[in-house]
Amino acid sequence: MLNSVERQIIHYIKDLNEPEILNLYNKLAKGKRLRAKLILKIAGNSLRVIKTASIVEMIHGASLLHDDVIDDSDMRRNRPSINSIYGNKTAIMFGDILYSKGFYELNDIDKRVSKVISNAVVQLSLGELADVSLSEEFNTDRDRYLKMIYQKTASLIEASAESASILAGKDSIPYKIYGRNLGLAFQMIDDILDITVDSQTLGKPAMHDFFEGKTTLPYIYLYKELDTDDKNRLKSLHSKRLNTKDEAWIKLKMKEYKIIEYSYNEAKKLIDEAISLMENAGEFALSAIAKEMIERDF
Ligand code: FPP
Ligand code: MG
Repeated sequence: MLNSVERQIIHYIKDLNEPEILNLYNKLAKGKRLRAKLILKIAGNSLRVIKTASIVEMIHGASLLHDDVIDDSDMRRNRPSINSIYGNKTAIMFGDILYSKGFYELNDIDKRVSKVISNAVVQLSLGELADVSLSEEFNTDRDRYLKMIYQKTASLIEASAESASILAGKDSIPYKIYGRNLGLAFQMIDDILDITVDSQTLGKPAMHDFFEGKTTLPYIYLYKELDTDDKNRLKSLHSKRLNTKDEAWIKLKMKEYKIIEYSYNEAKKLIDEAISLMENAGEFALSAIAKEMIERDF
């Protein structure tokens, strides 16, 4: 079923009548297509549903193109990022083309779905801005981190699930909570894997978040546990390129205070709620997606 989404995206891109854009699109690694998968599992595979899933993936792709410019990232999903090959201007404009074409096509789907998705993109942009602002300081506020990851990541996954439930004529509430929890857990796990997994497996540089200024959940929890000297040491490393000794020290302290387990359990609680909501609704394919997410190691 995901193949029909790939075909639909290509169809939208060919509509633009610009071979250069098709060429750029072919340079993108496709990713897990999580949002499209949820939409199809919730709402089936009618053309309207396939179009919605394709539009959401185009918007998501656009947001990653912009994010790689903002984060100055050279790699995305084990491939050189578009900004690293063609420069920031091309990456930004290609992102603009993908999301504006997505919005244009969204008009033909359903007014409620249009509102849900466009509101999520507002949240997405606010979340990215919050991520940038939070990265300018050593943030130790868990609530600000949670609000930011809700906006930056969970909002579009929540909107995907909600939109699909609208298209399928199902009660939106459990799907919305499912999508939100999945999105929050997804970002928390992403932030954990940045610390626990090597660059090759991640498809992007490992332990990069802290260098980018991001005090993700494990760093927030670690900071709370450390004594004053170690708090100062951790703060002094913020936004710096870590040498192997500093990296090893952070990992050692995280191990000592069981920070990864603690952070992982926070994601697991959200996933457990998502699983039970979907099991109660008889949506076993969706509860299986949630289970896979908590078990993912890349
Ligand atoms: C990845 O975060 C970034 C996002 C999930 C959202 C990015 C949103 C924007 C740039 C707003 C603009 C929106 C559009 C539609 C153009 P990350 O840097 O933590 O993850 P990463 O490690 O995968 O890069
Ligand atoms: Mg990034």
